[in-house]
Amino acid sequence: MAVKDYIDTNDFTKEELLDMIELAKSMKAMIKEGGRYPLILKNQTLGMIFQQVSTRTRISFETAMTDLGGHAQFFGPGTIQLGGHESIEDSARVMGSLVDILMARVDRHKDVVNLAKYSAAPVINGMSEYNHPTQELGDLLTMMENLPEGKSIEDCKLAFIGDATQVAVSLMFICSKMGMDFVQFGPKGHQISDGGLQVENVVDLVAIAQKNCEVSGGTVTISDDIESIKGADFVYTDVWYGLYDEEESGESYMDVFYPKYQVTPEMMAFAGPNAKFMHCLPATRGEEVVDEVMDGPDSLCWVEAENRKHSIRAILAYLCPKTVENAAAADAAEARMNAVLEKIGK
Ligand code: CP
Repeated sequence: MAVKDYIDTNDFTKEELLDMIELAKSMKAMIKEGGRYPLILKNQTLGMIFQQVSTRTRISFETAMTDLGGHAQFFGPGTIQLGGHESIEDSARVMGSLVDILMARVDRHKDVVNLAKYSAAPVINGMSEYNHPTQELGDLLTMMENLPEGKSIEDCKLAFIGDATQVAVSLMFICSKMGMDFVQFGPKGHQISDGGLQVENVVDLVAIAQKNCEVSGGTVTISDDIESIKGADFVYTDVWYGLYDEEESGESYMDVFYPKYQVTPEMMAFAGPNAKFMHCLPATRGEEVVDEVMDGPDSLCWVEAENRKHSIRAILAYLCPKTVENAAAADAAEARMNAVLEKIGK
């Protein structure tokens, strides 16, 4: 049976994820080059739950629904009865019957898992402390549009620099799924393999990726040695202090990461002469990356941000249930409706 929700890319096969990429590419070309909008979600409604702030994810989902002929409703923190007086499970049952599809950016991963479990409508994970799967698909689209000459995605190496954020974990998942070489170059205590990122019920994140590698032929390396990034086609970083980090105590994050893990022109050159720079954004300029790299000719971070919308369109089109048409039922119901409207003079 097809997977109902988009919570984790590990729930999908490589072929299914590449189908989403082909959907993203074709719809992007149709709209950007052809000026024609595929109105395949006409009259459908997306409910967007945000327990955390967002620029790219929120705008991408809302714009994508408009592009596809549908509509999006925004539910920011404190605007709906979710997880307070009303349990997540009850809210999921109700919301899943009121909209056609839901997305949620949550404080705790288990909340989006529970939403999906109890909602009849498909649920998309818009980021948790564990992973960021819509970012993953956008990043895969960006890499596939910017492959080094003569290379396929399976031949590529991505080096993630810095902290074991949910974006780092997500990149490890999608790279290993695709058969790429993934490296996290980060300090001990902040590595994916040493509990730098802790998630309830998930003990060994690298083991999940290693399983992907057994199928795809990819590799996973976690290291604090700069040599590990040599030969990277894509150099990726994320903030050193983000939405899910706890209040700082003791050692400052700057002391941990700076200057060794800052992406500079020298680090890019060390990775390789054709290495491209990527960042999920928002960036803290001058911390994890310097201006010359972000704004330089090898930076993909702006197209990467735009690709959030193109890839999210594909995820919505992939998951949204097809409207069931029954002409006889519609005709009969319409006749009954018209009888009442006629009776009340409308
Ligand atoms: N990259 C990303 O998810 O950005 P937002 O937090 O602005 O949505």
